[in-house]
Amino acid sequence: MITKEDVRDLVDVPGGTVSRKVFVDEEVYAREQEHIFRRAWLFLGHESQIPAPNDYYVTRMGEDEVILTRTGDGRICAFLNSCTHRGMKLCRYDQGNTRVFTCPYHAWSFATDGCLHGVPGFAERYHEQLDKSQWGLARVPSLSVYAGSIWGSWDPDAPPLEDYLGGMRMWLDFALDYRDGRPNGALVLAGVQKWRTRCNWKFAPTNFIGDVAHVVSHRSVDMVGIGPSGQGRRDRKVEGASVFGWPDLGHGGTGWVGAREEDYVQPPSFGQFPAVAEYFRKARAERRERRRGEFHFQGKGTIFPNMSFHEEQPRTVIVAHPVGAHETEFWRYYLVDRDAPDEVKDVLRRYFMSYSGPAGLTEQDDLENWSAATTASRSPVARLQRFNYQMGLGHSMPYADVPGCVWAGQLHSEQNQLIWLKRWAEFMEGRSWDELMHRVAIPGDVPFPLAQPVGAPA
Ligand code: FES
Ligand code: FE
Repeated sequence: MITKEDVRDLVDVPGGTVSRKVFVDEEVYAREQEHIFRRAWLFLGHESQIPAPNDYYVTRMGEDEVILTRTGDGRICAFLNSCTHRGMKLCRYDQGNTRVFTCPYHAWSFATDGCLHGVPGFAERYHEQLDKSQWGLARVPSLSVYAGSIWGSWDPDAPPLEDYLGGMRMWLDFALDYRDGRPNGALVLAGVQKWRTRCNWKFAPTNFIGDVAHVVSHRSVDMVGIGPSGQGRRDRKVEGASVFGWPDLGHGGTGWVGAREEDYVQPPSFGQFPAVAEYFRKARAERRERRRGEFHFQGKGTIFPNMSFHEEQPRTVIVAHPVGAHETEFWRYYLVDRDAPDEVKDVLRRYFMSYSGPAGLTEQDDLENWSAATTASRSPVARLQRFNYQMGLGHSMPYADVPGCVWAGQLHSEQNQLIWLKRWAEFMEGRSWDELMHRVAIPGDVPFPLAQPVGAPA
């Protein structure tokens, strides 16, 4: 059994190394289900997937399947997708609309607020003595909506979602807002792509949090030119970008340093599709005016533990759902502006799927890396080695304008992977929320390694 003390040996943040057991060990995996997926805030879906009363969408929280519903009176709820009678998988569709979920096994039925509604033979078989109020579906106790995104935690004492997200919200806004800067304008295109890959789930969030060095493995896609204007993978500015992260929260991403909305100039994009190019040109011009003076945080990132997103090219969310120490179920959501013309949505849909998902050229490269790294790390001798995260170690600096944020001053750094793994270890130790949210100090805790100010003693 993995103990709290074992966890401390697994992740060495000051030294920048991590035991491979973190990525391949079955006992580590079992502890993650308890200490991470039963406690952390997890991304469940988006309001646009359940817009009408009695809409539902079946999602996951770690290994648990969950039904996300909008009740008849418009509330959002989430329940374990497991009948309270004998555990049958209650809802066998991915999404839809219904007033009741009827279990396929013995036909107990549940309303969209999770209450047990009907029991066959309630009078003659149960003599009206079954207390239906006690046998509703297991409810996700902590549920919160941020800019249309829906999050849940199995821990009733979880801190408010906005505290958990911290400053990372500013980056998430980029994916969730309208392109022209109006808030909360995303729509999930119908059809979440889902597939399984034989890799450990942690390879995905620690990739999207800021592994820029791996772009060498996307060389073939760069050469094919799937980008919106027929060149490279994307039409975008890369100079001046860095990695940003929150060592106290475990989130991070890549973005542009110190850019204000009015200063940021996006290169012309979607040149092959004039209507789409004009849509983005106009939206960006409006954004510059609407958000004048604000930071420009374009980029991609990861919210601890397993939700990652890209803000635009492609504008997607990916969730790495663990299904075993060596297997992951990935769910890709594609986002567009809710009020974009159909022609724009259609071009984006095709571009996104050529880039991401199981048939996306770029995603395939990542999946190959993650699955081969898992396989080559789990054999008896391989699993005894450690991974190296020393790129940029000790060169991170506080980012003065954003509380709690540190940045590497360069795009290539493994700062953010270490930030994520530091958070992973804190959860795996079984810390209280007071400790996890840094409301109390932990004796002996080593701060995240930062660069020494010039002139300071080493
Ligand atoms: Fe659902 Fe029996 S398991 S009604
Ligand atoms: Fe990649």
